[in-house]
Amino acid sequence: MKRILVTGALGQIGSELVAALRRRPGVELVVASDIKMMPGTASGDGPFEYLDCTNQRQIEQVVRKHGIDTIYHLAALLSAVAEERPQVAWDVNLGGLYRVLEVARQNGCAIFFPSSIGAFGPGTPRDRTPQDTVQRPTTIYGVTKVAGELVCDYYHQRFGVDARGVRFPGLVSHVAVPGGGTTDYAVEIFYDAVRNRRYTCFLGPETRLDMMYMPDSVKAAIEVMEANPAKLEHRNAFNVTAMNFTPEELAAEIRKHVPEFKIEYQVDPVRQAIADSWPRSLDDSAARREWGWSPDYDLVAMTTDMLENLERKLRVDDRGKLD
Ligand code: NAD
Ligand code: SER
Repeated sequence: MKRILVTGALGQIGSELVAALRRRPGVELVVASDIKMMPGTASGDGPFEYLDCTNQRQIEQVVRKHGIDTIYHLAALLSAVAEERPQVAWDVNLGGLYRVLEVARQNGCAIFFPSSIGAFGPGTPRDRTPQDTVQRPTTIYGVTKVAGELVCDYYHQRFGVDARGVRFPGLVSHVAVPGGGTTDYAVEIFYDAVRNRRYTCFLGPETRLDMMYMPDSVKAAIEVMEANPAKLEHRNAFNVTAMNFTPEELAAEIRKHVPEFKIEYQVDPVRQAIADSWPRSLDDSAARREWGWSPDYDLVAMTTDMLENLERKLRVDDRGKLD
């Protein structure tokens, strides 16, 4: 039975991954942890620990206290925030990963590390970006992700640490808001469509990027960790994707449900430059071949589900505010 620690558990992915892991057969315990404190009612149905991933002693204490054997290491600064605070991004994204890997090595833990489309750069082939290709990112976020992929491979080869991971595209979800990435528009647009029937987008109308709905991201994270290691040629940084669209195409899909929805554009040059340095689409055939990756949601299914869930959630939120 697995005993799992999730770092950065109160973020966009962790908010859904922790609950999914707690429901998973074969999992005995899931300890959520973050440097934010858990809001009262969100304490969920399991333990929570305050844990700064740059503090190796704290990680070690939590791992030993709970007899952890698997760490989903999600704590990081996303691309746009990282560009505002590159020194902090280096400490948290790479320093934190290094410390988690050291604790994993010393305590025999497996580790999941999420890399990103941000690990690619302008020199990478931008369409159907291959699994193994040029990686010269121009953002600090990307630099920490490439280095993270490499150090995870190194810890596996050198020390036998069972380190695995995927390269996520932009993630869309309705439970927690995103933490300051370049792909956040694809979440904000749904909130604004439900609340205001209009959205001002910070990326240009033709900016094409790969995306994934959160239930598929959670599935990818769990399945790669449960994959038969004998079938894995790669271990870390599997390209995974589910759909591909521009802001204009996403707006058109939303308009099928909200006919009066309007999108306008006020491009943020920093985030546009980041998006323009990333692939337009990924080739995820290695993940499909090696561990059977297959997403459940396309653009049509995701848009329907997002709007249904946000209609419900925002009605409740608004009532909550009035009370
Ligand atoms: P997020 O920003 O929503 O959450 C990150 C969490 O980490 C936050 O709750 C934050 O409080 C916490 N954190 C920050 N510094 C910390 C520290 N020093 N110690 C412990 N916790 C700390 O991010 P997310 O979207 O949930 O992403 C999780 C991981 O997945 C990150 O590594 C990110 O790079 C990767 N990823 C995310 C996306 C996406 O679109 N969301 C795409 C590709 C990869
Ligand atoms: N969605 C993330 C970001 O925009 C990519 O890893 O930062």
